[in-house]
Amino acid sequence: MSVIRSARFLIISYRIIMSDILWQAKDEAAMLTLGLILSQSITKAPGGVIYLQGTLGMGKTTLSRAIIQSMGWAGPVKSPTYTLVESYSTGSIDVNHFDLYRLADPEELEYIGFNDFLGDQSINLIEWPEQGEGVLPPADLKIMIEDDNPGRIIRLSPQSEKGEKWCQQCTQ
Ligand SMILES: Nc1ncnc2c1ncn2[C@@H]1O[C@H](COP(=O)(O)OP(=O)(O)O)[C@@H](O)[C@H]1O
Ligand SMILES: [Mg+2]
Repeated sequence: MSVIRSARFLIISYRIIMSDILWQAKDEAAMLTLGLILSQSITKAPGGVIYLQGTLGMGKTTLSRAIIQSMGWAGPVKSPTYTLVESYSTGSIDVNHFDLYRLADPEELEYIGFNDFLGDQSINLIEWPEQGEGVLPPADLKIMIEDDNPGRIIRLSPQSEKGEKWCQQCTQ
């Protein structure tokens, strides 16, 4: 009986999720190209959350900046390490760029009204999502950046159909 029940559970919960994509960025210019490609898909299907993971100096802000500027923001994009979040209006889409490195407690996200940043015309780029665990919504796309001295390897892990759409053009 329990075997049947777990088999049924497996069938119900089964979805075909696109496998991870690896992007090799030998320098910052290759990172900017990835940001441009991602931004084009995001612009067509906004509304969602991207986690950017990887240790300090891996290029999370560099990639976020590339996405934000490729979406049409002409001004500077500074790291929101001290402000927690910086928001940019690009056409009809609001891009919210978070850096949770200095978040002392995930509950702080509730004080800043994190849910107000979500919407079908917004995109939320979140550096150090580990710091907001338990309060943050799940990601549509997880981006993990690793060192590949002197460049970087970027692993794109779609977590939803939206995330899959965003990655469809990311082939090298
Ligand atoms: N693909 C790459 N190859 C080599 N250096 C890179 C690459 N992407 C970014 N960088 C450099 O690495 C550093 C990353 O800084 P930053 O984006 O602030 O990292 P993080 O936000 O992850 O702490 C910058 O000096 C940037 O020029
Ligand atoms: Mg950063």
